[in-house]
Amino acid sequence: MTSILVLNGPNINLLGTRQPEVYGTTTLAQIEESCHQTAAELGCEIAFRQSNHEGTMIDEIHAARGVHAGIVLNAGAYTHTSIALMDAIASVELPAIELHLSNVHAREPFRHVSYISKVSIGIICGFGPAGYPLALRAMADHLGAAV
Ligand code: DQA
Repeated sequence: MTSILVLNGPNINLLGTRQPEVYGTTTLAQIEESCHQTAAELGCEIAFRQSNHEGTMIDEIHAARGVHAGIVLNAGAYTHTSIALMDAIASVELPAIELHLSNVHAREPFRHVSYISKVSIGIICGFGPAGYPLALRAMADHLGAAV
């Protein structure tokens, strides 16, 4: 069965209480549950991960090769800073979708820069927690179209 890695970066574990005016009140556990429901509808598997550490995220991306068919990545603030995460995505040659809860382009200028965009097949941002199921559907559609 096709498997998709959903990888979350720093501070995403605090969803529910973190700046609710920006990120809402849905917890990461609730988002994970919605991803499992969507995966069941799509007939695919997911692995749902979160780390506050850049190196751990890179290790997760490396380990995805040969295991997962694609990566949905909310890299948090590393989106705007991490050449290493960009290189990791490029190195494993798996399709990646960049995901953000907030509309980063409507926020501070430093959030308008994304290293992840350069190695992503597409970007979903600004739809809050609903972006996760949207990204999974987009990835499943992309993978279906690819075979
Ligand atoms: C975020 C947007 C980033 O700019 C921010 O650093 C985050 C969360 C989002 O999901 O909206 O941590 O990735």
